[in-house]
Amino acid sequence: MNVLVIGATGKSGRPVVDALVARGAKVRAAARTPGAAAPGVEPVRFDWADRDTWLPALEGAEGLYVVGPFGQPEPELLMHQLLDQAGDVRRVVLLSVLGADRLPSLVPMASWEHDVRMSGREWTVLRPNWFQQNFGEGFAEGLRTRGVLGLPAGDAAVSFVDTRDVGEVAAIALTSDGHGGQVYDLTGPSALTHGEALRLLGQASGRTLRYEALEPADFADAMRRGGGGERAVEWQLALFRHVRGGGNAAVTSAVHDVTGHPARSFPAYVAGA
Ligand SMILES: NC(=O)c1ccc[n+]([C@@H]2O[C@H](COP(=O)([O-])OP(=O)(O)OC[C@H]3O[C@@H](n4cnc5c(N)ncnc54)[C@H](OP(=O)(O)O)[C@@H]3O)[C@@H](O)[C@H]2O)c1
Repeated sequence: MNVLVIGATGKSGRPVVDALVARGAKVRAAARTPGAAAPGVEPVRFDWADRDTWLPALEGAEGLYVVGPFGQPEPELLMHQLLDQAGDVRRVVLLSVLGADRLPSLVPMASWEHDVRMSGREWTVLRPNWFQQNFGEGFAEGLRTRGVLGLPAGDAAVSFVDTRDVGEVAAIALTSDGHGGQVYDLTGPSALTHGEALRLLGQASGRTLRYEALEPADFADAMRRGGGGERAVEWQLALFRHVRGGGNAAVTSAVHDVTGHPARSFPAYVAGA
């Protein structure tokens, strides 16, 4: 099966590519800077902001994994138009986010999910919790330089999910039957607070790492100072409101149900297992 992976070099896209190759799929790995070719992987340039790159990337694709156009103006319109142009694609797996149906409409995932459902294709929606891998890449700067992670997450527990499990679930949904019309809430096997997560990470790395519970307004100001647009700021605030309200603490069996193995734990991620 030929699969186009949009966002192929990111935290979720990389394990999706790996899992697809392991299942014998031919992957077209799409990003603005798509990286090098590898067995079973053809890099292709794709930019949400440049429609001329869309059709060449989509050509011949039967399956599509799509990380949506976050950070772009009009992210709803872009997803809508991409799905309109996805000629031969018969299976779509969308990366959404846990709680997409409970978030305010300024977060575009509910609109993306609606478009995927209405696309006339066999669709599967993945709603992962926050990624364990954020602690290695997403939150990197403050942790690396000061050993401090400041977020407006309060002391709420989060059942962080390993992106390798997200990748496996996506690859299974794209390459086998029985996953059409499914929405999978993907979590790790237990919930822990950001403080607990950093304690485990600190013990493993021999560093003192500290979580700082930020006031939402201070977090928003820091985002604005870093160049974040107003919509991106509100979007992040909504996601963290969901966390503080306990919406990211539940543990689901979806990873186990789809892959047949238990979801990878945070301690296993920290140990590099
Ligand atoms: N991080 C989490 O904990 C988490 C949890 C649940 C859901 N999500 C959702 O996951 C999404 C982010 O996915 P991710 O964490 O895998 O992202 P990521 O690690 O930031 O990677 C983004 C990927 O998209 C590509 N990309 C960025 N801008 C692009 C553009 N204009 N056109 C084409 N490709 C572009 C990047 O490559 P180039 O830069 O080379 O283009 C890269 O391959 C968001 O929608 C978020 O809501 C994240």
